[in-house]
Order: sequence, then structure tokens, then C-alpha cells
Amino acid sequence: MAEELDVVVVGSCMTDLVSQAPRLPKAGETIHGHKFFIGFGGKGANQCVQAARLGAKAAMVCKVGKDFFGSSYIQNFKENSVSTAFVTQTAEAMTGAASIIVNDAGENAIVIVAGANMLLGEEELERARSALGKAKVLLCQLEISSHISLQALRMARQSNVRSIFNPAPAIPDLHPDFYKESDVFCCNESEAELLTGACVASVDDAGRAGLELLSRGCAAVIVTMGPQGCVVLQASNPKPKHIPTTPVNPVDTTGAGDSFIGALAFYMAHHPSLPLEEMSRRANLVAAVSVQGVGTQTSYPYKQDLAAELF
Ligand code: RIB
Repeated sequence: MAEELDVVVVGSCMTDLVSQAPRLPKAGETIHGHKFFIGFGGKGANQCVQAARLGAKAAMVCKVGKDFFGSSYIQNFKENSVSTAFVTQTAEAMTGAASIIVNDAGENAIVIVAGANMLLGEEELERARSALGKAKVLLCQLEISSHISLQALRMARQSNVRSIFNPAPAIPDLHPDFYKESDVFCCNESEAELLTGACVASVDDAGRAGLELLSRGCAAVIVTMGPQGCVVLQASNPKPKHIPTTPVNPVDTTGAGDSFIGALAFYMAHHPSLPLEEMSRRANLVAAVSVQGVGTQTSYPYKQDLAAELF
């Protein structure tokens, strides 16, 4: 019998095409950048790789193109000990790609062309049903067809598998069942803003947006806030709790939210009895390491890079 998994991600893979520039260009403007590189990204795969680097037995359910980038991505999963049993390649579309610009403050702007990710369908999800149903945690985002993400969350719920849903990139008309079908609904400030229509610029704003998201049926909400840490709310005790993080000098914040979510999934799988606030405090610290390195997965820490007290 195949080994049971800690974390299953039904989600995206992207080839990140990253340009570093002094600032983000304005509409219609061309500016000089100082460095270009290609890396492995995509919110789903980033979260999966971070969970695996902390020690989770992880698998990706995803689709890449039958092209150089797709084959390289499969190799990348193997090098990160992520199971590729449910990774498929298609000749119908290219591997997803993300054009990313990172400014000198470490902030970014991203355009994704999801490509093969959008062809991940019910058939592939059905093939992963048994593994998903025995896993400890499922992670989903919105860089694949949203109905596949929702279906995966429903499968997890039917099998009592805990789930984290990351509504990214956020869409204004999110299906209402996403709030009810996920155990932890984890978004950043801009996603919380788009979903609630309210400005989320402070910890208090994040608390108010979190309460609105809870009222839509979530069991728990986390709003991540970069250098300000995150705000955690639970339906059983809805008072928003601010979980601050350690200040660091950010070099590149791309994928920091994915590092946080991958770490959170690791803690939910390996330390399920820790309070969600403590899991979030530790996940904040993992993500803080990631912003101090260049690139997305290239900056994600391994277990051996982190303090023993985090495990
Ligand atoms: O969250 C960061 C990720 O968003 C990048 O790796 C990019 O691929 C986009 O999906």
C-alpha cells in the first residue's frame, strides 16, 4: 500500500520569469532592470515545496505542459521529495508562466498565464481521491479552475481531511461554498479587501475583514499582513488575535504568503494539537526567512535552516 501523505496540494505550477528593477513600471513605461532569472513558482507548488522542506510527506495534484518547463518542474518536485504520482503533462497547453517584477523594496507585481493549470480536470482529481482521502491536510488556491478547487475541498470534507483554502489570486464573485468547505480560509490583505469590499490597511481592519469572512461560514480565518504578521480568527472564539512577527530586511517578498501556508500545512499535519495561533506564529517565522532570500522557492528554508524550537 502506498505511504499515507501528510499534505496534498491540488493546485498550480508556474515558471517564474523574474526581473529585478529599481521600481515597478507605470502603464506604458519601459524601465531598465538589473537582473533576470527563471525559477519554479505557482502558488500551489510553492506551498507544497515549503511543506515538504519542513518534513511533510507531500504530493502535488497538478498539470504541466509537455514541454521543457513542465519536464523541469517534475524534476524539481523530485529534488524536493514531493510525490509526482498525480502530476500529468498535456500537449494541449504550455506550462503555466508568471511574469514577475521585483522592486528594490522587495515588493512585486505578477501577471500569470495559467496555461496547462486550467486543464487540470475532474478525471485527474478522481485519480487522486484515495490518496487525498487519507491525507492529513489538503491545500487549494485559485490558479486552477475554481470548480476543481471547490471539488477537492468537498472531497476533503467528506473524508474528514483538514483543509486550507487560499483564495489567491482573489476573485470578487467567489462561490459561497468556498467559505463553508474549508477549515482554514487564509488570505492576504489585498485578497481580504477584494472579497469584503472594505479597506484592509491595518491590523484592526484585518480583524474586521476577518469577522466578515467568518460570518460567511468559515471555521477559521487568517489574514496575513507581511511585516505585521497575521490576524487569526476562529468561529469558536471570534475575537481577532494579532500574531506579530520578527522584523527583518526583506530582499524579495515573492511567495512569502505561500511559504506561510506551506508551513501552516506542515504544522497542521505534524502538530495538530497546537493552537492555530501558535501554528501561525511559527509559520510567520518560516515566511520571514523566505523574504530574506531572492526568488520564490529558492528562498524557502529547509528544516535544518530553522531553530529547533519551531519543530
Ligand atoms: O505567490 C507567488 C507566486 O504567484 C509566484 O511563484 C507566481 O508563480 C505566482 O503564481
